[in-house]
Amino acid sequence: MTKDLDLTDIQGNIIKAYGAYNYQKARYLFLRINNGDKGRKFVAAITTKVTTAISWNKSGASPAVEKPMATTNIAFTYVGLKALELPTASLRGFPEDFMMGMAKRKDILGDDGPSAPENWDNIWKERVHIWMSINAQNMEALIERYNWVVEQVEASGGGVTLLTGHRGDAGEDDLPYQEASVLYDEAGNSTPKEHFGYTDGIGDPVFEGQTNIAARVLGRGKLMRDGSWAPLATGEFLLGHVDEAMEYPKTAPSPTLLARNGTYMVYRKLHENVGTFNRFLDEQSKSFPGSKEMLAAKFAGRWRDNGAPIVKAPDDASKAEWDKAFEAADFAEKKRMLTDFTYNDDIHGAKCPYSAHLRRINPRGSLEYGVTNAYETPGALDDRRRILRRGLPYGSVKDATRDDGNHGIIFMALNVDIQRQFEFIQQQWINYANDFKEGNDKEVLLGNHDASHPGKVVLQVEPGSGKPPHFVNNIPRLVETRGGDYFFIPSITALKLIAAGMVDPT
Ligand code: HEM
Repeated sequence: MTKDLDLTDIQGNIIKAYGAYNYQKARYLFLRINNGDKGRKFVAAITTKVTTAISWNKSGASPAVEKPMATTNIAFTYVGLKALELPTASLRGFPEDFMMGMAKRKDILGDDGPSAPENWDNIWKERVHIWMSINAQNMEALIERYNWVVEQVEASGGGVTLLTGHRGDAGEDDLPYQEASVLYDEAGNSTPKEHFGYTDGIGDPVFEGQTNIAARVLGRGKLMRDGSWAPLATGEFLLGHVDEAMEYPKTAPSPTLLARNGTYMVYRKLHENVGTFNRFLDEQSKSFPGSKEMLAAKFAGRWRDNGAPIVKAPDDASKAEWDKAFEAADFAEKKRMLTDFTYNDDIHGAKCPYSAHLRRINPRGSLEYGVTNAYETPGALDDRRRILRRGLPYGSVKDATRDDGNHGIIFMALNVDIQRQFEFIQQQWINYANDFKEGNDKEVLLGNHDASHPGKVVLQVEPGSGKPPHFVNNIPRLVETRGGDYFFIPSITALKLIAAGMVDPT
């Protein structure tokens, strides 16, 4: 079934991960609305420059839509929508997670100890109202668009304030924006790496209505009973469309025009303890029966250098073979090799352990493996836990032996139901593991491991192989939350209604 989406009505960041389109730089801005009327005028001004999801330079398109040098997108917290004076009946229709916001969901998210809200960047001390993003192809375009936004703030006559309070690279704690950027190698070339050295940004769900589906759906859509892949239902990622349960998402506020073609975004600033990660990997690799790189791959589910899935290249020897085939492959085949896999021939976790980031976060039908008659598709349960990932690394690592400084990932997850999708992954699959029959073993990289009870995981082996399973002990907290909140990304229609004060739920 194909489905046409109105790409001119959907904000571009929902459909496109800008980083994959060579937008190497980004700034995230947060604002407070001081006056409803002036705030709505500000929204009207920004809406004129909001980047939609329309395809760029589509062959034969008339008029041709040029790829912009900079993009602009906007989203609101619940308190922001309240400050914009949306009718109470509309506000009441938003889900509880979104109303509460991220800080109040800390027990669900495991944001404790160093990740607790009291340790977040200053900007999160009070709830923000507006999130804006600028992604740009170069720094010049980024600054030009940023200056334009600042002009709109000034023109609002005090209606909105650009908030300060972000930690920066040079130790500042009061920056008016969060900067983010792809990482560069020593020769200055852009890379798809994050600060622990892993290759990131490979897998992202493919859903009905997106373009070029056939080429991208392998390993990224939903797994069907015959082993093929199909796009996920649009309603997992966009409100007002039918979801995997063949229902309209219940998290949509009224009226329909406010919700349709919008979605929810989870924004999290995740600090990476690079020094601790490097020491931990060195220490654990001393007793691991394999190379240090193989152990690093067991943590993530992908090899660090090129993202090879460990389930397809489970040890050093098979990785060398995989690399040869990868180098010889053309662009499309390379993409397929990176994404088109399941855990069906590794149901005991001997190749990709149950604790690996990739397997925990997208089990690809392996949790329901062998269940043949209960569900339409083998991954029916995890098809409801998928998220679109947007975002980029931030900061730079000045000393790879130290944790302090300002470096990590600006993580943004888009989904229609924060509780069912993002929060479930974070709570049940990252910080708990009953679904994987691993009790309360937390995921290695992201678990909220506690210094007084350091984490452990088991790296499984093939049953009957005669080999003992390997235990990874003393896992420290490798990633810490430094702030974030939950946002609603409205459609262009909804932005115009909000700006005109014409949201009418009656
Ligand atoms: C500093 C924090 C994080 C790091 C270093 C990290 C790293 C990675 C890496 C290296 C990959 C493999 C590349 C790829 O498949 O695209 C990946 C994939 C993924 N990550 Fe993360 N990640 C982080 C945080 C998170 C969080 C908080 C979530 C969700 C709660 C998440 C969800 C995902 C998903 C859904 C995938 C794709 C899985 C698949 O489709 O097979 N990540 N991550």
